[in-house]
Amino acid sequence: MFVFELDSVTKRYGRRAALEGVSLSLPAGTALGLLGPNGAGKTTLLRLLLGFARADSGRVELQGRDPLDAASRRGVGFLPERLRLPGTLSLRRFLRLHGRLADRSGPELEREIDAIAELTGLRNRLGERLDQLSKGLAQRAGFAQALLGSPGLLILDEPTTGLDPLGVREARTWLEAARERGATLLVSSHILSEVERLCDHVAILDQGRVADSGPLERVVRTGESLEDAFVRIVQRERAPSA
Ligand SMILES: Nc1ncnc2c1ncn2[C@@H]1O[C@H](COP(=O)(O)OP(=O)(O)OP(=O)(O)O)[C@@H](O)[C@H]1O
Ligand SMILES: [Mg+2]
Repeated sequence: MFVFELDSVTKRYGRRAALEGVSLSLPAGTALGLLGPNGAGKTTLLRLLLGFARADSGRVELQGRDPLDAASRRGVGFLPERLRLPGTLSLRRFLRLHGRLADRSGPELEREIDAIAELTGLRNRLGERLDQLSKGLAQRAGFAQALLGSPGLLILDEPTTGLDPLGVREARTWLEAARERGATLLVSSHILSEVERLCDHVAILDQGRVADSGPLERVVRTGESLEDAFVRIVQRERAPSA
């Protein structure tokens, strides 16, 4: 069973193809690192899955449904690339709102909010307005929102952006814990050492196309780091064909 499926997907912005003929899928229970140079199409791909953008052609499915069907996002935690937090809300009210969207409420939700705030290091910030949080703390708030309710599928777009080194390490433990309870992970990242630790599959996009994808041990050659493989694959993709 695939948690998402893209089949020959093309997405254009004007004359530029952000994605071109992309086919990719993710089996439940696995962790996929979505890699690629800046502008490769990673965020576009994630936005298509979440129904924030529409493909021009090809088929996109999230949890077996059309992304325009809100039911496709049931049990999905999402951390966008550019967080736009509702600044006037307190962190607790923000998390409450997200909890309610996931059909949670009452004392159980409040306990969950306390626990997730504790986990993400925001326990003493719950009463504060979101626009008072520093960049990294705001990113932690985004993480808390995505992790709330223990979603079965986590879709994270460069989740460690703005986190301090301790935060990067903590984030790894949050995601490892999610994996241990069986969650599926789709994460775009430029921090290849983190991807190597966390993911069992990778897909490397370049200029809107899938340059390579598959199990980590297949994409990365023996003796190579993921960074070496990344450079090799992107350079091969860009080499003028003979
Ligand atoms: N709303 C938009 N309007 C016009 N062009 C867009 C839009 N969104 C993305 N693009 C273009 O589509 C291409 C893919 O962008 P995308 O954000 O998916 O890249 P990315 O792989 O996430 O890059 P990064 O690593 O910098 O986050 C880029 O050329 C980008 O400029
Ligand atoms: Mg991006």
